Amino acid sequence: MAKEKFTGVKGMNDMLPQDAPIWQHVVSTAVEVLERYGYQEIRTPILENTRVFTRGVGEVTDIVEKEMYSFTDSMNGDQLTLRPECTSAVVRAVNEHNLLYGTTQRLWYWGPMFRHERPQRGRYRQFHQLGAEALGMEGPDVDAEIIMMLARMWKALGVGPVKLEMNTLGAQEERAKHREALIAYFEANKDVLDDDAKRRLYTNPLRILDTKNPDMQALVEAAPKLLDFLGDESRAFLNRLEELVSAAGIEYEINPRLVRGLDYYNHTVFEWITDKLGAQGTICGGGRYDPLVEMLGGKPAPGVGFAMGLERVIELMREVGNVPVRTQTDVYVVHHGGETQKAALLLGESLRDLGVRVIVHPGTASIKSQMKKADGSGAEFVVFATEDEMAEGCVSVKALREHADRTVAFAQQQKVAVSEAARTIAEALAALR
Ligand code: HAM
Repeated sequence: MAKEKFTGVKGMNDMLPQDAPIWQHVVSTAVEVLERYGYQEIRTPILENTRVFTRGVGEVTDIVEKEMYSFTDSMNGDQLTLRPECTSAVVRAVNEHNLLYGTTQRLWYWGPMFRHERPQRGRYRQFHQLGAEALGMEGPDVDAEIIMMLARMWKALGVGPVKLEMNTLGAQEERAKHREALIAYFEANKDVLDDDAKRRLYTNPLRILDTKNPDMQALVEAAPKLLDFLGDESRAFLNRLEELVSAAGIEYEINPRLVRGLDYYNHTVFEWITDKLGAQGTICGGGRYDPLVEMLGGKPAPGVGFAMGLERVIELMREVGNVPVRTQTDVYVVHHGGETQKAALLLGESLRDLGVRVIVHPGTASIKSQMKKADGSGAEFVVFATEDEMAEGCVSVKALREHADRTVAFAQQQKVAVSEAARTIAEALAALR
């Protein structure tokens, strides 16, 4: 019988061990920054009732119309969806647990999201977002602070220059007036609209502005601009946001065509974009969503947040050559089996007591082949617990790598008493850090 070959689901990737250090580095760096701004972690399930997203993200969005992994729970008939984004889920949880009762919340999350899109570079069906939501605060100070926090993250991660685009979607009444004007304008130019635009004309005309169709660009360029429909309050909101972001020395561009693909936004929307990743150059998107808490059944409360695509951020770091090198092993212990294996295992324990990352060679093999493994492990030091050395109550230690800027202990192989070995090696390692 032919052996069956199993593969992963299209558009969903394995994270292989060689990529673990960069993922861990990105998340821990981002979290370190988030904590400096008072954000706390929240985790919500990967599955939600479908209504959370149809109501939250909006019925007439690409995500809800075409991209959700939804199914009926065969046990009880519930309609469920693998989360395509996390803002709606976080707001659902905040409402359910009354987290805004008499207070505000600053929350962060990271994890897999699912969208049934056409997979390509930077666009996957399972991808990972790291995001944050600030709830119960009216802004625009908080909106500006989020932008400052993101600028700090890009610096901490070393992603190179990324461009900030901002826009305002105004208040609900202003949007309604703009919407009417847009419909009238597109109706008058119906012959230029493609099928997608015709379908959206009365349901979501704003999204027509987002079209990638080159034949519609001139039409879209000349369409009525929301900026012309903004009242004093919305203008003041945007002006203050611009003032604060400029004061922090952050460059930005106002892009009046930035509308975002989710329905819950008002006032501030923004994206951070790179030209180094081809078509999928948006590494982060976000904005203000004051109507969402109420839309999902809570007492009205404002909100603003963002999510970054971690695959894209990591690819960008690789692109600009900024991937930190982090080995997985500090010390590799080789031995001759039997009593020396026991001593090697115990030395491994003593080293780990001191916080050192150790691999004790598993099983037995020639010292030569164990040395090969030691070298390949990335360890700084190899420890020999061989029969000769153990007979003298010693092990010997040898440095495996050179460090141009420092003198390294054990550059020459050297004997150390077993009782002293763990402390001596831990100190030698500390000197290299
Ligand atoms: P979004 O713009 O849909 O916003 O997604 C945010 C980021 O997730 C994108 O900028 C991109 O980097 C990444 N992303 C989206 N789809 C994919 C995909 N198929 N493959 C790889 N990366 C992807 C939201 O999801 C909002 N919840 C953001 C937000 C939070 N707004 C307010 N709070």
